[in-house]
Amino acid sequence: MGKQFQLDLPRRPRRLRRNKQIRGLCTETELSPQHLIQPLFVVDGEVEDVAVESMPGVVRQGISRCCETARGLIDLGICSVALFPSLDQSLKADNGREALNPESLVLRTVRALKKALPELVIFADIALDPYTTHGHDGLVDRVSGQVVNDATVEILAEMAILHAEAGVDFVAPSDMMDGRIGAIREALDGHGFTETGILAYSAKFASAFYGPFRDAVGSAKGAGAPPLDKGAYQLAPGNRREALMEAALDEAEGADILMVKPAGAYLDIIREIRDTSLLPLAAYQVSGEYAQIHAAAQLGWLDLRAARDESLLAIRRAGADMILSYFAEAYARDYSGI
Ligand code: PBG
Repeated sequence: MGKQFQLDLPRRPRRLRRNKQIRGLCTETELSPQHLIQPLFVVDGEVEDVAVESMPGVVRQGISRCCETARGLIDLGICSVALFPSLDQSLKADNGREALNPESLVLRTVRALKKALPELVIFADIALDPYTTHGHDGLVDRVSGQVVNDATVEILAEMAILHAEAGVDFVAPSDMMDGRIGAIREALDGHGFTETGILAYSAKFASAFYGPFRDAVGSAKGAGAPPLDKGAYQLAPGNRREALMEAALDEAEGADILMVKPAGAYLDIIREIRDTSLLPLAAYQVSGEYAQIHAAAQLGWLDLRAARDESLLAIRRAGADMILSYFAEAYARDYSGI
């Protein structure tokens, strides 16, 4: 045998990938449970958990079960939840008036959670879609069919005050109306809620990936149905500059945390906002992102855990400080080996 073939290479990057230990030293991105926010779906009454068909492992829970779930999350190192009420159809109206009921389901849930677990960080969505019969995030003008901006913002600001009173740490306007961050900040401050934060859904795209969520909160037909068109307020999926402008406006209006949603298909937007703002950045790995990984895993086409972890890590790598994900609990469980 002649001399072994050997390339004359000044650099061999593979030296740093030789074994697990060396790869560990060179790790650039990590995700631990403290970065995760678990979305929770709440229903009224002391009921058994109700499965959400299009989101395997996700349930709708009554208030006391929600408290138990949150306690378990804290034990796993997840200290934050985002609440989404799933309302009985009879409480929905064209104008979503239940959103301003001081005894609404979500407000009762917030009070119960804060009482049981004062250290839990609570985020609550501010938008009308759980409360409206049509499923839009705001008031719909009967004549034009358009979602009306300013009248919607007026209601959202009131809704934010009610949530702050109930004890949420952050209100999370998810409606994409113009000027809502400034109006909500002013309303909160005007009522002395200077410590209540705002997580702004700044770059929320009109996405097909919200389908299973709308199923979960009962805000539209069912999974697989054509998505409700929210294109008159949510961003067009191809628009990058517009997303950056929305983020800049929310920051100027007083947002504490910015958010990009969905996450997986918008990693470039996460990166750009990370590079152009000094605020903490959240990303929402939405229901459809969760459902597609589960569906493929059920068919034996993907490894659930590996695909889950990779999808979450990619969102961190793109620049998200915190991630809302339906995988949060399962990730934390595997992370801590419990
Ligand atoms: C609506 C809202 C949506 C989600 C969170 N808040 C859906 C929508 O805009 O229709 C989606 C979350 C998910 O898909 O997991 N205010």
